Amino acid sequence: MAQINENYLKLQAGYLFPEIGRRVREFQRENPHADVIKMGIGDVTLPLTPSVLRAFHEGVDEMAKAETFKGYGPEQGYDFLRDAIARSEYQSRGANIHADEIFISDGSKCDTGNILEIFGQNNIIAVQDPVYPVYVDTSVMGGRTGSYLKSGYYEGLVYMPCTSENGFIPEIPKERVDIVFLCYPNNPTGTTAGRQELKKWVDYARKNKVIILFDAAYEAYISDPDIPHTIYEIEGANEVAIEFRSLSKTAGFTGTRCAYTIIPKNLVGNAADGTEKPLYPFWYRRHTTKFNGVSYPVQKAAAAIFTPEGKKEVKSTIQYYMNNAKVLRESLAKLGFTVFGGQNAPYVWANSGRGIKSWDLFDKLLQEAHVVGTPGSGFGPSGEGYFRFSSFATHENVLKAMERLNKLKW
Ligand code: MLT
Repeated sequence: MAQINENYLKLQAGYLFPEIGRRVREFQRENPHADVIKMGIGDVTLPLTPSVLRAFHEGVDEMAKAETFKGYGPEQGYDFLRDAIARSEYQSRGANIHADEIFISDGSKCDTGNILEIFGQNNIIAVQDPVYPVYVDTSVMGGRTGSYLKSGYYEGLVYMPCTSENGFIPEIPKERVDIVFLCYPNNPTGTTAGRQELKKWVDYARKNKVIILFDAAYEAYISDPDIPHTIYEIEGANEVAIEFRSLSKTAGFTGTRCAYTIIPKNLVGNAADGTEKPLYPFWYRRHTTKFNGVSYPVQKAAAAIFTPEGKKEVKSTIQYYMNNAKVLRESLAKLGFTVFGGQNAPYVWANSGRGIKSWDLFDKLLQEAHVVGTPGSGFGPSGEGYFRFSSFATHENVLKAMERLNKLKW
């Protein structure tokens, strides 16, 4: 009989977002007339923008004619998209990243989960706490952790608490680690890391030969000029960091699927015999073996985001969500919550200040206000007491949700 991957038995309950969905569906079954406002999973509500749609349609039309039809494309993405990204997102910011270091994919969730495959089993992995659950769960699935502990942590992972006391920037680990997941602008706390903080991490990684897996899925939400948009704005980062970017939240591609990952050519890891090996050929090999590329029309649509017109449209989409974030921040603060994030990121991280546990607040808001958010403890023990509000709802719903919270008895 086939043996199962025992590591899956270590995983806790369901993945956070499906678990929230399950609870909401149950509530809706019992309360079919309740108007539930969803600000839980960060899923966008605005449609694709006009220039993206135009390019998308053109791509589909090209598939309809023999002369322009495309079969398999290059697994790592079409040059027109990789060139546009290299110029617009990196070279324009002084980051020395080239088009052939960019791998187009169908999502940062997949890439941040899959990247560990190119690293040996005995690496020690560090994650922020609270943390986007994918990094932890995929480490568990891949057998890179021990058992789940009562404390809410997995044995074998190094957790780096991110709290209001340390400004949600973790301390450099005291123990030996080999791989560090960092996410900025941060999911779930909506906080950011400035140049000095990122430099501290890059310097540490260079000195200690640590690889940083830098998730920058929310980069487009940065408006503060002092906050780097890419880790490669920091000197030496292309010796130590892999960066993940997504078009999901940038341009409404959560349903369309397009993202990209940067593997700089001079990034190296150690072989068992102590020789240094570049990581680029490993990811190239993995990507071309296990992936056949994002569809041509989607890549056409994605490239439109990097045109002057596309950029203007994306800016206004982001402005819309950031206006929601502002309403969330101000309304929650008036209600006595302590509020973080939501200024250069689409998530607002709030503590009710009333000693209510995260899942209890989830139930209260769902039952009494029909508002769904994400319980902070679902992201890790340091998230206990916090609640994450996503600004991706419609503006009307954000206003309505905050009115409902205002009427609650606390
Ligand atoms: C979130 O809400 O944290 C994200 O939408 C989840 C994801 O991007 O996978």
